[in-house]
Amino acid sequence: MGDPFTVFPELETERIRLQQLTIGDLDVMYSIKSNPMVTNQYGRDPHTAILQTEKWIEVIAENYRDRSTLYWKIVNKIDGRVAGAITLWNMDLESHMAEVGYELHPDFWRKGIMFETMGCLLQWAFEDFGLNRVEACPLENNIASIRLLERAGFKLEGTLRERAYFGGKFLDQYYYALLKNDWVQVRRQ
Ligand SMILES: CC(C)(COP(=O)(O)OP(=O)(O)OC[C@H]1O[C@@H](n2cnc3c(N)ncnc32)[C@H](O)[C@@H]1OP(=O)(O)O)[C@@H](O)C(=O)NCCC(=O)NCCS
Repeated sequence: MGDPFTVFPELETERIRLQQLTIGDLDVMYSIKSNPMVTNQYGRDPHTAILQTEKWIEVIAENYRDRSTLYWKIVNKIDGRVAGAITLWNMDLESHMAEVGYELHPDFWRKGIMFETMGCLLQWAFEDFGLNRVEACPLENNIASIRLLERAGFKLEGTLRERAYFGGKFLDQYYYALLKNDWVQVRRQ
């Protein structure tokens, strides 16, 4: 495999392309990051100024230069529209592990797009990037994310009690992980 921090890995499924998220995606990412329907699901206030999204993309670029984060935009092949984004972050490459994060514009929800994207990313992460473990930490009330993870084969390892504070409440976070071996089993089924 080539070094993904030298040449960004572009991936593809039947319906979508995964390409490096850049400042050229500012407007579309602002439309997602400023939507409370999206951001409330992971316990963050929506962006209220495009400058916040610009700074967020700048941090992503810095983290790529630091070799700590890979951030893909999810492009709908039919019309070229950016549906959302997916990332591998919180990497510990000595331990061959990373966390996955993802979000879609609501126009694209419940069409199986993130399941398709996740499958493609996991294949690359385990087979090409050499990860052994991928983690995810949805909030207790994020049914869509929990369902997505369980369908992709992630296993619940525990509850991080009141790990988040959002909307005036402390919320539990669920700790999910998928090992390469789990993924091999899921693919055999
Ligand atoms: C989480 C998210 C990415 C899911 O994307 P999606 O493309 O709509 O999900 P999919 O269509 O691939 O669905 C995957 C599974 O989750 C289920 N699901 C999706 N949304 C659901 C919902 N709102 N309620 C219940 N189940 C849901 C689907 O039915 C499917 O399971 P099934 O095949 O057993 O029916 C999307 O809801 C989103 O962007 N949410 C806001 C951001 C977010 O929460 N990010 C994650 C932070 S941890």
